[in-house]
Amino acid sequence: MINFKKRIAQKIAKVVDLEETIQEYIEIPPNPEMGDYAFPCFRLAKTLKKSPQEIATYIQSKMECEEEIKEVKIVGGYLNFYVNPTMLIENVLREIEEKQERYGSSNKGNGQNIIVEYSSPNIAKPFHIGHLRNTIIGSSLYKIYQFLGYHTIGINHLGDYGTQFAKLIEGYKRWGEEYSIDENPIQELTKIYVRISDLCKEDETVLEACRANFKKLEEGDTYCTELWNKFREVSLKEFQKIYELLDVHFDSWNGESFYMDKIAEVEKRLEKADVLIESEGAKIVDLEDKGLGVCMIRKADGTTIYATRDLAAILYRAETYDFDQCLYVVAYEQNLHFRQVFEVAKHLQIPEKCVKGLEHVRYGMTRLATRKNVNP
Ligand code: ARG
Repeated sequence: MINFKKRIAQKIAKVVDLEETIQEYIEIPPNPEMGDYAFPCFRLAKTLKKSPQEIATYIQSKMECEEEIKEVKIVGGYLNFYVNPTMLIENVLREIEEKQERYGSSNKGNGQNIIVEYSSPNIAKPFHIGHLRNTIIGSSLYKIYQFLGYHTIGINHLGDYGTQFAKLIEGYKRWGEEYSIDENPIQELTKIYVRISDLCKEDETVLEACRANFKKLEEGDTYCTELWNKFREVSLKEFQKIYELLDVHFDSWNGESFYMDKIAEVEKRLEKADVLIESEGAKIVDLEDKGLGVCMIRKADGTTIYATRDLAAILYRAETYDFDQCLYVVAYEQNLHFRQVFEVAKHLQIPEKCVKGLEHVRYGMTRLATRKNVNP
């Protein structure tokens, strides 16, 4: 196989008679009209004590090109090389033949740890077009990074915690038998959810009962936990059908609920960093000076929120995976949420590289002709 870059470097080195790492200086021009490779002559200006222009003219006049180089042009202080297209094509085809499905792979990642978090649907809710898009983008990123030699960890951060389950438990308690949950779990649970939510709007006592369920759930009450487990299981079975269809995989299915026992440590660290403040009975981190409002950590009633669980996840992931990057494939609507969480994460006393490696990979809303908005 011809290594064009190496050959060009050898020929330049011969002309200038230098031991310098010419090959490292050779670039691929941003625009193909400027050639296949380019040599920035200013790199040698100091050593040769000549202007880049002079160096370019000199090299061009002395360089012996064989058939693999079709043309050499001077543009500014650059020497632009155009390789013989027939030879280039032959070269590429030969490489594809040799490397087969590994063609294009590299070890650029050098074993760095990269977490890609994607899909993350909410339990007992439909898996819709937004989740589909998210799943495909995330799974593609996962595979690309893996191909580039990164140690990749794919996480499905399931939405399996929150007040909605307390409502669902209340609805199930009242009307569970009327619905065929085992046959059509997500559709039926959604119906129950809509029905109980409507009732909550009309009747404050029902809402109170839901709140009590949430508290029970947080305290590990057997009945509530069993029901919640059932909702989770039947939902996962449904999601799994889609993942199988798409050939999408995850290394971890740790959803929001997984982090509940790790929240105390988040609070401890934020307290230590002296950023956790009490406000009207709630615990918050004030981010006003960053233009990001306040980030709620614990509500006045003692319950935690989505952001708190994301912070616990960052802490856990830093300790478990020692990540260099952690990518969140989530729709742009959660911009503020992630900006807040990443800002607070600076106070978690995790390695600097982890804080810097947090990144929200955002994408736009999916719109269908039949419906105006489909929430991702
Ligand atoms: N479950 C959420 C939703 O469907 C997405 C979770 C995104 N990931 C995260 N770490 N917050 O909107």
